[in-house]
Amino acid sequence: MITYAGMDIGGTKCAVTIGRSSENRIEVIDKVHFPTSPTPEETIQRVIDELTLLFLKYPEDRQRLEAIGISCGGPLDSQNGLILSPPNLPHWDKVDIIDPIKRHFNVPVGLQNDANACALAEWQWGAGQGTRNMIFLTFGTGMGAGLILDGRLYSGTNDNAGEVGHIRLEKEGPVGYNKVGSFEGFCSGGGIARAAQALVRARIVSGGELPSFYPSSESIDKISTRDVAEAAQRGDPAALGIFHDVGRHLGRGIAILIDIINPQKLIIGSIFGRQRQLIEPYMMEELHREALPNSLAVCDIVPAGLGEEVGDYAALSVARALHIRQASNL
Ligand code: BGC
Ligand code: NA
Repeated sequence: MITYAGMDIGGTKCAVTIGRSSENRIEVIDKVHFPTSPTPEETIQRVIDELTLLFLKYPEDRQRLEAIGISCGGPLDSQNGLILSPPNLPHWDKVDIIDPIKRHFNVPVGLQNDANACALAEWQWGAGQGTRNMIFLTFGTGMGAGLILDGRLYSGTNDNAGEVGHIRLEKEGPVGYNKVGSFEGFCSGGGIARAAQALVRARIVSGGELPSFYPSSESIDKISTRDVAEAAQRGDPAALGIFHDVGRHLGRGIAILIDIINPQKLIIGSIFGRQRQLIEPYMMEELHREALPNSLAVCDIVPAGLGEEVGDYAALSVARALHIRQASNL
């Protein structure tokens, strides 16, 4: 039995996880979620403190700890352990995250792009098991892809493979990944919230009917993806319209990926898993219009097999991959 720890650093929340592994399997023993702090220094200190506290409950696992994996939104430089300047972590710029954590816990620490890490986790333990070519799309706070090609993770020349949130789908549209009309602009938690906020502002200016996801006592900036999803479930036409538009753009973005990669599986995380009925019909309609039929026919498009826990397993899979790599180099 081996113990690994995972740290998941997100734009809005972070998590630390302890997992026990034997053979090819892994079990999450415990985890804690908490909001991301305003600065990188505070966030790094917080993940160290939270993991230290969590290990107090599992002293034997602390003894058995072999590696820590960090999963974080990019762009990043995983070789040098640097988080560069991710669109969803605006105050981070070339932050060395490995060094302070390694010094504190005194075990090997690995860093991986969150989408790549989720792809690894889904490939080993989730919906991607047994495939050789698969794509994981985060579709959470941001939009990123992890690519498993020919049976291994493909990370590109300088770690930027799969930064699909940056692809422009329209000349105009919501901003995401610092770009108007991008895949992340349309298909991410941040993008959906901004589209909803823009719709409310436009309706106020035009004197149109206000959607039910805007309780006028609140500030417009507070409207979240969850508010819009709840309104859509109630049948609010404006909220439904936003999700249908998300579905169409998701289909368009996926069509590009399917045309290039010809994957066997395309696995979509967070928001797709939660709002599948609202999104999928519009996504499929667009896919039938846009993707090469032969490629679409062989590609299974599914939500994450590990569900809401994919992020926890993702960070653990980074630790496990690092440990296995180091052990085989001995
Ligand atoms: C980042 C990607 C990341 C994705 C999901 C994007 O904004 O650039 O690296 O995978 O968000 O967190
Ligand atoms: Na990636």
